[in-house]
Amino acid sequence: MEPAKKSAGDPTGFAADDLAARLRSVRERTCALCAPLAIEDHVVQPSPEVSPPKWHLAHTTWFFEKFVLEPRPRGYRPFDERYHPLFNSYYKSVGPHWLQAERGALSRPTVSEVHGYRRHVDEALEDGLRRGLDEALRFPLELGIHHEQQHQELLLMDIKYILGANPLQPEYGFVEFEAAPGAAQWRDFEAGIHSIGAPPGGFAFDNERPRHRVWLDGFALRPRPVTNGEFREFVEDGGYADPRLWLSAGWDWVGRQRIEAPLYWRRSDGEWTLFTLGGVRPLDPDWPVCHVSYFEADAFARWKGVRLPTEAELEVFLEAEPADQPVWCWTRSAYAPYPRFAPFPGAFAEYNGKFMCSQMVLRGGCLATPAGHGRPTYRNFFEPHQRWMFSGMRLARD
Ligand SMILES: [Fe+2]
Repeated sequence: MEPAKKSAGDPTGFAADDLAARLRSVRERTCALCAPLAIEDHVVQPSPEVSPPKWHLAHTTWFFEKFVLEPRPRGYRPFDERYHPLFNSYYKSVGPHWLQAERGALSRPTVSEVHGYRRHVDEALEDGLRRGLDEALRFPLELGIHHEQQHQELLLMDIKYILGANPLQPEYGFVEFEAAPGAAQWRDFEAGIHSIGAPPGGFAFDNERPRHRVWLDGFALRPRPVTNGEFREFVEDGGYADPRLWLSAGWDWVGRQRIEAPLYWRRSDGEWTLFTLGGVRPLDPDWPVCHVSYFEADAFARWKGVRLPTEAELEVFLEAEPADQPVWCWTRSAYAPYPRFAPFPGAFAEYNGKFMCSQMVLRGGCLATPAGHGRPTYRNFFEPHQRWMFSGMRLARD
C-alpha cells in the first residue's frame, strides 16, 4: 500500500475526501498480501484460531456487502446470499454464522469465486461512491476500511502460522525484523494525572473512547522492547521450569502444552533458529522477542525483577515517543470498558464490546500493522495463552 497521506487533525491519517481512493487502496492491498500464496495455502486451518486466507478475502467483502450495500434503498443485487452465513464472523444480530474452527473445512466457494465476489462488491461500492454516498452509510464504509486493515494484519499472522506449521517451512518472502528500536536506558515518568483514550473527532474504535483522566504513580519504562538475546537467557536459566515465576494458569498452560520457548523458536545442535515470513533464520539476539504469550511475558518480567507496564503507562510512553512499532507489547491491564464506554450503534455494538472479558490488552502496533492504521490509543486484545500474533513486551517498574 502507498504510505497514507497525513492530514492535520485526522487520526486516521487520510484526508476526508479521498474515501474512494482509500477504499480501493485497502481492497487492493488485501489481494496483494495473498498474491505470493499458492492456492492450497488459501484454504487450510492448522489451528482453530487461525483463519484460512480465503476466508479473510471473503469475510472482509461480506462486511461491506452486509453493512454498506444491503442497507441501500435500491439497486444492489447480492453476489450470492448463500455466502452470508459462511462469511459472517460473529455478528449474531444479523444472522447465523459458520463455526470459526470449521473455516478450513470449506473447499467452496473456490478462491477464484471469492475473487469474483470481491470484484462484484468493489464495483457496487465504487458505483455508489460515484453517485454520492448516503451520509448514513459513511460510517459503515469507514469502519469497513479499518476493519479490512485489521484483517490485513490477521492475514499475515495466519499466513505465518499456516506456513510455519508445514514441515517444508515455505518462505512467504517478507523480511520481518531489524534490531529492536529505542533506548536501553530506562525513562522516568513523574506521578500525575494523565488523559488517555481517543479524543472526539476522527476515526477511533469505540473501545478507545471516551478519553478520560487516570492517576499514575511515578514509573519507569524501558523504551527498547525485550530482545531475543534477553529472552534466550531466561530460557537457558530454566525460566520455563521454575513455578515461582508463573501465574497459576500460565504454569498449567506451560505444562499441558509442553512450552519451552517462544512460538517459532527451534533448537538443533545447541543453536536456536526462528521461522519467519522470510524463511528459517538463525536467532538474532538484537531483534525484539516475538510470539510470546501473556503468561511468558509476565514470567519473564518477574524473572527480571520488574513488571509489565499498564496500558495507561504504555499509552503515555507511546504519546511521548512515537515511532514505528515492531511488536505489540503486552500490558498487565485486563481488557475492560473505559469509564462511560458507549459501544458503536446497532450491529456494530458486537464489534468490540462483547469481548471485554478474560483478555489482556496489547499496545503499540507491529510490523504487520498497515501504515496509518495504528494509534497510541489503539487497544488490541488477546487471551493470555495466545501467541500467534506479533506479540512481545516492554518492561516497566515502580
Ligand atoms: Fe472481521
